[in-house]
Amino acid sequence: MSEPPPILSLRDVSKSFGAVRALQNVRLDLWPGEVHGLVGENGAGKSTLVKILAGAHQADTGTLTVDGKELRLTGPGDAQAAGIAVIYQEPTLFPDLSVAENIFMSRQPLRSLRRIDARAMRAATAELFARLGIQLDPDRPARGLSIADQQLVEIAKALAFDARILIMDEPTAALSGVEVERLFSVVASLREAGAAVLFISHRFDEIFALCRRVTVMRDGRWVSTGPASELTVEELVRRMVGREVSSLYPKTATAPGEARLEARLEVRGLTRHGAFTGVSFTLHAGEIVALAGLVGAGRSEVARAVFGVDRYDEGEVLAGGKPLPKGDTAAAIAAGLALVPEDRRQQGLVMELSVERNATLTRRWSLSRLGLLLGGGERAAAREWSERLRVKTARLTDPVSTLSGGNQQKVVLAKWLSTQPRVLIVDEPTRGIDVGTKAEVHRLLSELAGQGVAVLMISSELPEVLGMADRVLVMHEGRLAAEIPRARADEESVMLAATGQRGVV
Ligand SMILES: Nc1ncnc2c1ncn2[C@@H]1O[C@H](COP(=O)(O)OP(=O)(O)OP(=O)(O)O)[C@@H](O)[C@H]1O
Ligand SMILES: [Mg+2]
Repeated sequence: MSEPPPILSLRDVSKSFGAVRALQNVRLDLWPGEVHGLVGENGAGKSTLVKILAGAHQADTGTLTVDGKELRLTGPGDAQAAGIAVIYQEPTLFPDLSVAENIFMSRQPLRSLRRIDARAMRAATAELFARLGIQLDPDRPARGLSIADQQLVEIAKALAFDARILIMDEPTAALSGVEVERLFSVVASLREAGAAVLFISHRFDEIFALCRRVTVMRDGRWVSTGPASELTVEELVRRMVGREVSSLYPKTATAPGEARLEARLEVRGLTRHGAFTGVSFTLHAGEIVALAGLVGAGRSEVARAVFGVDRYDEGEVLAGGKPLPKGDTAAAIAAGLALVPEDRRQQGLVMELSVERNATLTRRWSLSRLGLLLGGGERAAAREWSERLRVKTARLTDPVSTLSGGNQQKVVLAKWLSTQPRVLIVDEPTRGIDVGTKAEVHRLLSELAGQGVAVLMISSELPEVLGMADRVLVMHEGRLAAEIPRARADEESVMLAATGQRGVV
């Protein structure tokens, strides 16, 4: 029996950015009809590989063969001509164009796009959306779409031309439950149609559910490729990190008697029309409260309103018993609140500033208010947090834009953790973060709670919610649907509440 040749082959591919050797002699084969997993720690080189396959970066050495022909991709157009479609880790939509225009952008220059029959474009978009089960208005501008929706538009964009090789760089990082399942069924139908899919994810359950073979990378090098059926999670982790990883979710339950009664944050009847309604809860010192729910349930919106990023229409927020003014983040920070936002690239970082500047931006703010702006202390703090979170960077003075996606997230975490908050709100704290650092982030959150910090953790990962929280608040369509104590929280109780099948517990 002879195997068909691979549809795509990479051999001995190397790529350096200055002194950083992002890829060294990497190889990869993709066969038609396979979903191929690519895993590795933050900074292992996965996205760099993707960018080479997309024609966005040129490899320094090595060869790329598609359908038995050696190719040189000198731009995104070349990749597309070879049938390669890429969904990047960070959405790349044009905010001022409509959703439909963004989708057809990949095939048409903007000028001819404007001349295309708008009706035909809209109809084609609607058809794609129906296939993907996406409910979005093709005419709305991309600006203001949630990350999940942006990602879905990116997927539609990739499917708008008949790609035979689909590359997905952490496509599910911003999706939850239903959306992930929908994406999986799209991937399955592409595979059945004979396409090859390269699937990058830090979620092992997805890798095992979807992928026939898995390639592991570490520090820019190829480590192994083999059938997923011959791997265990432990083995995969060992290959990725090259060391043993301590257990995830180290949180221990706070005994009810020992729960400190000091209310750090009180949210009363908070309402923002069209986003959330009548949300009330109290956070106590020393507890971790999870805010669970499906994407779009209004969790991030509540967090942003509490922290003063957005205004709200009704209700009030008290920090340490004192009312917080509406829409005033400076007042929130002064009252000891910190928010690690969901959309870190847009809301958390100044891309052109250095890692150390970013890591200490908020701290600088508080230090400078005390008149203590010390370059040395700042640098030491940046170094300490970067080390604890294993931020992979050549120098702390490098711009944040040169870090890998996961490492950028770690810098945002470092930035807020270094402010020593009294109330810490983290929105999807481990999204896009590799397994080793995930354990470290969980340990840090537990440690902070142990020191008396009140932690509100928004998470779409059920194991994280169940493993870390003392209490679980569940939102459904803008309202708190349930409050479940740790002892009674399980997958079923949270999912029932999140999908609106059970009222307040
Ligand atoms: N434009 C650039 N300039 C300098 N260094 C870069 C650039 N792009 C990537 N790097 C470096 O190359 C290495 C690999 O980064 P890459 O983005 O490929 O990692 P990754 O495996 O995708 O990680 P993650 O899981 O965090 O997304 C990192 O050390 C990163 O800092
Ligand atoms: Mg990446």
